[in-house]
Amino acid sequence: MLMPSLTVHAGGLTLHNPVLLAAGILGTTGASLRRAALAGAGGVVTKSIGSVPREGHPGPTVVGVECGLLNAMGLPNPSYKEFQEEIEIAKTGGVPVIASIFGSSAEEFAKIARGLEPDAFELNLSCPHAEKYGSELGRYPEMVEAVTGAVKAAANVPVWVKLTPNTADIAELGLAAQRGGADAVVAINTLKAMAIDIETGYPILGNRFGGLSGQAIKPVAVRCVYDLASQLEIPVIGVGGVSSWEDAVEMIQAGACAVQVGTALLKGYSVFSEITEGLSRYLERKSLTPEELCGLAGRRK
Ligand SMILES: Cc1cc2nc3c(=O)[nH]c(=O)nc-3n(C[C@H](O)[C@H](O)[C@H](O)COP(=O)(O)O)c2cc1C
Repeated sequence: MLMPSLTVHAGGLTLHNPVLLAAGILGTTGASLRRAALAGAGGVVTKSIGSVPREGHPGPTVVGVECGLLNAMGLPNPSYKEFQEEIEIAKTGGVPVIASIFGSSAEEFAKIARGLEPDAFELNLSCPHAEKYGSELGRYPEMVEAVTGAVKAAANVPVWVKLTPNTADIAELGLAAQRGGADAVVAINTLKAMAIDIETGYPILGNRFGGLSGQAIKPVAVRCVYDLASQLEIPVIGVGGVSSWEDAVEMIQAGACAVQVGTALLKGYSVFSEITEGLSRYLERKSLTPEELCGLAGRRK
C-alpha cells in the first residue's frame, strides 16, 4: 500500500516528516542526534549552546512529577567553539540539524550564530530557569525582535524562535519574532514550576525551581500553538507533551506545521516511528495531506 507523503516545508526547511527531536533532551553529542535521525526523526534540534562552557545547575536537575518532568539543567554545554564537530556528526543522520543557541544579548546570540554552520538556528528565548538567559530576555517583545533581527543578519540559514509560555500573551512574543524576520516560531518551552519534599520541606531541584514538560503541559501547548497560528503569518512548530500520533494530530490541527518530541523520548527512540506511522495512517484514512491538516481547528466554525 502506498502511504501518503509526510514531507512538509517548515520554516525554510524541507522535512521528510514533521516529527522532530526537541532541544536538550539528548545531551550534547552528535552521535545521539544522529541516532534520533536514524530512528525516524524528520529533523533534530541540538541542546542549547552558548558562548562559553557551562556546567549547569547543581543536582538534582531532574525530578519526575505527575504526568511529566521537572528539570533545571541550567543550560550545561561545551560552548559553540567546541560544537561544530558534533553538528557535522549529527548531519550524517541525513536530516536537517537545527542548532539551538542562547545568549544574554543580541550581540552574544549573533556571535554564536556566526561561529556555527547548522541547517537552521533555533533561538532559545524561553528557558525558565537560567539567570540572564532564556525567558529573562524572551518575555520582552522588544528583546525578541532585536535578538531575532541580529541573528537573521548574522546567519545565512533559517532562524526559528522558541517562545516561552510563561507570559500573559504568547502571540505578542510571536509577532515580535515575526517583525524581527523569523522564519518560524517554536512553541512552547517548559512552564516554570517547582516541587517540594514534604518530609524535609526542601525544594527538590538543586535550583529550587525549574521547567515542567511532558503530558501535563500538552493542553497549554495546544492553546499556545492555536493562538500563534491564528495571529502570525510565519509557520508555527508545536512542542509540549507530544507522546503519541494522536497528540501530533491534535497539535497539527491546532496550527503546527511540524511537531517536536522531548520528554516522550523516555519511552525510547521508537517514539519517532510510532508517531510518524500513526500520523501517516490517519492522513490516509482522512484523505488529507499534512498541509491540509495544519490549522484545521482554526477553520472549523
Ligand atoms: C531535560 C530537558 C532539557 C531541556 N533542554 C532544553 C534546551 O537546552 N533548550 C531548549 O530550548 N529547550 C530545552 N528543553 C525543553 C524542550 O525542548 C521542550 O520545549 C519541552 O520539554 C516541552 O516538550 P516535551 O513536553 O515534549 O518535553 C528541555 C527539556 C527537558 C525535559
